[in-house]
Amino acid sequence: MDPAKRQSVGARNEVRDDARLQEQVKDWLRYGEDLGLGPYYRDRAPLHRIAEASAAAVEPQSIATSSAISAALPNAMAAAAPGRKPAGPASTAASAAQKSVTAAKAPPAAPAATILPAAAAPSLFESLDRIADDTLPRIREDIGDCTRCKLHKGRTNIVFGVGNAKAELVFVGEGPGHDEDLKGEPFVGRAGKLLTQMIEAMGLQREDVYIANVVKCRPPENRLPEKDEIATCSPYLLRQLDVIGPKVICCLGSCASQTLLQTTQGISKFRGEWFDFRGAKLIATYHPAYLLRNPPAKSEVWKDLQKVMAVLGLQPRKR
Ligand code: URA
Repeated sequence: MDPAKRQSVGARNEVRDDARLQEQVKDWLRYGEDLGLGPYYRDRAPLHRIAEASAAAVEPQSIATSSAISAALPNAMAAAAPGRKPAGPASTAASAAQKSVTAAKAPPAAPAATILPAAAAPSLFESLDRIADDTLPRIREDIGDCTRCKLHKGRTNIVFGVGNAKAELVFVGEGPGHDEDLKGEPFVGRAGKLLTQMIEAMGLQREDVYIANVVKCRPPENRLPEKDEIATCSPYLLRQLDVIGPKVICCLGSCASQTLLQTTQGISKFRGEWFDFRGAKLIATYHPAYLLRNPPAKSEVWKDLQKVMAVLGLQPRKR
């Protein structure tokens, strides 16, 4: 090979090695994030994240509320439903709609679900108004060709959500990745295939449940959604959850669970526990993408899904 050609092949290999290394580093960072080990690598993250992580670290026994997200929410909720009437405080609607998790629906042998409060004080999400006569098509219409946050710049498709509009079980992920962005549907990539397998193992089909994300546009380079993006987009997720009225919401990973529970605690502190959420029961488990990187954690997730199955009276799929 002539020296010039060899040099250019060498340069290409270096670029490839760099990209591979970057991917590996990103994987490790996400791995730490999934485990709630954020602070050890967050020194390059925006300051508010570090502050949150430290605040969470000194409150090990309680769910620490993320005040910045909370503060942004009421306005964002109103902005997410322009010209639509509130249906009254969610807490009222929630208690009316509260479907208690009792042995009536679950098989007799099922372990009782322990319901824990999501936060010491009523969460802001609980007190946010529901929108009267809301529907999924109306929410999609309100989102429109959204440019409300910077994520719109890199997206191909808005990934609204998919599945049964009357589902008893809703899965909430973080945000679309590459495949989801291209298809306009949540969880269709590798992590999505694993989620589908998990759903089927629970004795359900993908079409039986509803699947949505905290943010509806793909974050660049699959980075975590940022606080302003979450604050802008999550009111639409909240409206979707209100309209569907599931019995169980299963949060996949830190982003979804920390957003809905308004906490900065690492998911490993509260996964597998039950919380009340606007009339539904909420449980957090690890994200399928985390399971792809850390297969032994599948057994923990299966335990969490079995709790969901007990509440919904589901039997595991027969092999
Ligand atoms: N990960 C998510 O959190 N959501 C998706 O839709 C796909 C991957």
